[in-house]
Amino acid sequence: MITCGVVGATGTVGETMIKVLQDRSFPAESFRPFASAKSEGKCVRFRNRNYPVEIIRPEAISKGMIIFGATSANIAKNWIPMCIKAGALVIDNSSAYRMDKDVLLAVPEVNGHLITGEENIIANPNCSTIQLVVALAPLLQLGKIRWVSVATYQAVSGAGTPAIEELQRQQNGTLPVNPADRIHENIITSIGHPDAGGYCSEEIKLMNETRKITGQNFPVFASTARVPVRTGHTEAVAVKFDNPVQRDEAISILEESPGVAVSESGSSPLDVEGTDIVVVDRIRNNPGDPTVLQFWVIADNLRKGAALNAVQIAEEFLEKRKI
Ligand SMILES: NC(=O)c1ccc[n+]([C@@H]2O[C@H](COP(=O)([O-])OP(=O)(O)OC[C@H]3O[C@@H](n4cnc5c(N)ncnc54)[C@H](OP(=O)(O)O)[C@@H]3O)[C@@H](O)[C@H]2O)c1
Repeated sequence: MITCGVVGATGTVGETMIKVLQDRSFPAESFRPFASAKSEGKCVRFRNRNYPVEIIRPEAISKGMIIFGATSANIAKNWIPMCIKAGALVIDNSSAYRMDKDVLLAVPEVNGHLITGEENIIANPNCSTIQLVVALAPLLQLGKIRWVSVATYQAVSGAGTPAIEELQRQQNGTLPVNPADRIHENIITSIGHPDAGGYCSEEIKLMNETRKITGQNFPVFASTARVPVRTGHTEAVAVKFDNPVQRDEAISILEESPGVAVSESGSSPLDVEGTDIVVVDRIRNNPGDPTVLQFWVIADNLRKGAALNAVQIAEEFLEKRKI
């Protein structure tokens, strides 16, 4: 019997996780939602039943349990060791263990074959990384990638419930703020604090995680920005290969790739909200350099960018455990 738990069940990713587990009929016979002391005793609905939110404690965890993490990295570091010790599998959405060399950072379409069914923790990548690698990995069939350039237009839901509420309050004029801190009618060009070299933490995650998941060492030139969109991350991507590449060939490859939908219509975040696909739009050959392809990548950051990817990891884990 599989018991699944969601830690951070009252947050933006946790709530989406519960929806995705239901949508995909995840084979869990029982369910336990966890969150902070603030939410203890609140009810969370899963498959037409109410479950009281608990604080995560060792006695709540049992061997074989599958626990989805949807808390910040600092909080994840407090509860994950306890779950591993109890023999549970943790699939964590935070950045706490993503770059740990002993922890698999998984996107099932790209490196799902590395899941063994024996892990005690698997990390779920950053939302902007997941959609990028789903589009990028199949293109390795065209040749060796020399570099990737990506500029992101990231939705506020990527920063959780407080950021969604902040945008809503700025839109209806109930939250006056300095122009520099405002997201409504604005673009914030640094997601997380810049390091000594000037890169913000979101850019560092996108650069490092892309290389770890694809197993390639090409440089990624990332520029990340937060835009006043509720859900759906958009990325403008350029890929430089060692050899000339054909747009038509890239389209054929991506049309056959799992989780991808190719479009020519100029898709928007509103088109992908609530869907499970990564849209690769307006693939084009650069007229000045036949070794460069440009395209847009758009996906729902809460589904493929977080909850869906985590549930797909759990499904792959269970498949492997059967063998
Ligand atoms: N949003 C995205 O698109 C996205 C994508 C990929 C990865 N992620 C990552 O996923 C994680 C969750 O993000 P989010 O956007 O869902 O944040 P969020 O909306 O702020 O939710 C945070 C959750 O953590 C819970 N929490 C806080 N303190 C806790 C504690 N001491 N013990 C247990 N639970 C606690 C909160 O519970 P209370 O309600 O009780 O405070 C809430 O359920 C973050 O690490 C984020 O970086 C997010």
